[in-house]
Amino acid sequence: MAPVVVTRRLPDGGVDPLLAAGHDVETNDGDEPRSADELRAAAARADGIVCLLTDRIDADVLAAGAGRLRVVANVAVGFDNIDVAAAGQAGVAICNTPGVLDETVADLAFLLILAASRLAGDAAVDLRDGRWPGWGILQYLGRDVHGATLGLVGYGRIAQAVARRASGFGMQLLHHARHDTGKPGYVADLDRLLAESDIVSLHVPMTPDTSHLLDARRLALLRPTAVLVNTARGSVVDEEALAVALERGELFAAGLDVFEREPSVHPRLLAAPRAVLLPHIGSASQATRTQMARTACDGVVAVLAGERPPNLVTVEGVA
Ligand code: GLV
Repeated sequence: MAPVVVTRRLPDGGVDPLLAAGHDVETNDGDEPRSADELRAAAARADGIVCLLTDRIDADVLAAGAGRLRVVANVAVGFDNIDVAAAGQAGVAICNTPGVLDETVADLAFLLILAASRLAGDAAVDLRDGRWPGWGILQYLGRDVHGATLGLVGYGRIAQAVARRASGFGMQLLHHARHDTGKPGYVADLDRLLAESDIVSLHVPMTPDTSHLLDARRLALLRPTAVLVNTARGSVVDEEALAVALERGELFAAGLDVFEREPSVHPRLLAAPRAVLLPHIGSASQATRTQMARTACDGVVAVLAGERPPNLVTVEGVA
């Protein structure tokens, strides 16, 4: 059967759909991102590639696969690491993992909403570092999450899963999306949503339109009591501008799971007050990461069988 390269180690059982379909699976026991050379070499010898969001599948990699490579499946819902337009031109199908990680990522977004609002990050670090002098009535006074207004930027599956959790906390809900959702709480003007929310949670994909969507001007629209949470992609926020706003107390706190230049984190952000920072673990539960791997592999199996997989990436303007 067809050779399929899996670029990095996957959770146990993750490649089972490829094995069950009888493909010749070349797995990689290493857990380091693949270099451009390694990815080009993989593309040249494989009919399918299963990759991670740390693998850059650019036009050169796709060109190296010309005449052979038929499908690339990203074990992630985001696919900004892949040149989808070049893939369309090369006739290479792109698959991702929508649907299977929504609840797990929403759990983590809520964790950040709670941790940032209640200053749990700073409080935990102080305790560990021996800086807790004992209970005090003025210590770590956070913002209440229950009853607050939550503004969701983007209203896809993950944002809606966050909204379901927020209802249980008695929160008021606003959401902004490019197209009118027709649902209660829709706000067409992003600036207005930012100005009217106590907590803002970002759920948009990384595209040229969303790069630095929250720039210095928009960050300045947030209330000084506001909390910003990002579980989407780091580049949606101007990190330097956010660090400056936290330093100046122009917003209350931030909870971030994603960064502009992972694994580097802007040094000013690392030093900024009231920032809860996590290393891109939004979908990191055992069950979900395994299911993501299987979903990506299912996409490869379908494409190589000549079928259209449900997780085929289709982008406006790309054939
Ligand atoms: C993780 O960030 C993903 O896009 O699945």
